[in-house]
Amino acid sequence: MNDEKIFKLIENERQRQNEGLELIPSENYVSTEVLRAMGSVLTNKYCEGYPNFDGLDGDDDAVLASTDAGHRYYGGQENTNQVERLAIARARRLFGADHANVQPHSGAQANNAVYNAWLQPGDTVLGMNLAHGGHLTHGSPVTQSAKFYNFAAYGTKDGDIDYEDLEAKARELQPKIILVGYSAFMKVPDFERVAKIGAEIPGCLLMADMAHVAGLIAGGVHPNPLKFGFHVMTTTTHKTLRGPRGGLILSRGIVGNPLKKCEHTLENIPTLIDRSVFPGTQGGPLMHVIAAKAVAFYEALQPEFKEYAAQVVRNAKVLAEELQKRGFKLIGDGTENHLILANIKASFGYDGKILERALDRIGLNLNANAIPNDTLPPFRPSGVRLGTPAITTRGLGEAEMVQIADWMARVATLCVDEENHDEQFDKMREEVRALALRFPLPSEQ
Ligand SMILES: Cc1ncc(COP(=O)(O)O)c(C=O)c1O
Repeated sequence: MNDEKIFKLIENERQRQNEGLELIPSENYVSTEVLRAMGSVLTNKYCEGYPNFDGLDGDDDAVLASTDAGHRYYGGQENTNQVERLAIARARRLFGADHANVQPHSGAQANNAVYNAWLQPGDTVLGMNLAHGGHLTHGSPVTQSAKFYNFAAYGTKDGDIDYEDLEAKARELQPKIILVGYSAFMKVPDFERVAKIGAEIPGCLLMADMAHVAGLIAGGVHPNPLKFGFHVMTTTTHKTLRGPRGGLILSRGIVGNPLKKCEHTLENIPTLIDRSVFPGTQGGPLMHVIAAKAVAFYEALQPEFKEYAAQVVRNAKVLAEELQKRGFKLIGDGTENHLILANIKASFGYDGKILERALDRIGLNLNANAIPNDTLPPFRPSGVRLGTPAITTRGLGEAEMVQIADWMARVATLCVDEENHDEQFDKMREEVRALALRFPLPSEQ
């Protein structure tokens, strides 16, 4: 029996990915090994609870030497316990954390689990203004967490965090969490400065949502908030970190027995988080995804990943400069990470959605995005957001960034009267396809 319809769609998607270039900064292309782990029999297994947390400090062999049954609610865990132990140990090694919870199903789940671990209903969280680059899970009124907690926002100024605003609001509101994290922000945050502000507020948890830049941190080209006094770092595993879709929570503190209640202190945050993930906010972990996370962490621990992360940033800088030369006005005047935010309205007089759609036609995929203080609505925002994690995985370098900037500039000029330029669009579609096929997806190599 074969579900032809679904497998045809998967095949079409494989082809679309192979023949186009992914510029959406939150996407990446995983390795064959990550795909293999995800498509494995581990999906058949229930593993509510946690493995044993002893002996996670050594190398992989040392981790595998411990075969204790752990804290699970089901039998048959001899393999799954070891899969999760390896994932935890590698994540801790990668980020220099005391504790890792690899079970969150997504970045949003990871953030909610931290809120649930530390906050009481009505407590205040101070995070980056969503309209300035923060994420939905940092207090958008449409989220579940916004019903429970009181979210306040600091802004950005000239593309950077407005640290004075952050400090003034922190003093005034005495938040229980200060959150540094974003989906559209191109600077490297001053974690030390924020940690100093947080340290003056009793019971304030310093949380960094590094969903976008975790791979850059792992690759050593971006500072690690845990080294600057932050208590918790959440991330997705599928963006720059180049693993399966999923979430991850890292923290500093004492790792205790997750089945036992513990005191509500900053030191106990690892255990509070474990209890908040399961049974607090999730049921059974996705063991096939946890195995794929472990594979991705293994890959990120290799020296080649450092080179990858450095190239992501180099490519982003070149792409930003080349776009600026061609009339694109960039928020923050460029980038310090993998991400670029261009003000299309100010550059060309129309909204970001128009450019997004026109670029889709030639196989360059990016997303329309709000810019700080956008006067246009979210579905037709002023900007576009793009980045280099995925194309760098395929091996594109600086020369190809110049080529991409060229295509983008041509499309930006032609898309005002697109219907009169079908031939040029078709020609560019062929050029993009030809370049893309020279750099196959990792799983096709
Ligand atoms: C900063 C940030 N946090 C959290 C998330 C949520 O991740 P997920 O889509 O896996 O729930 C994202 C995703 O875009 C993000 O950019």
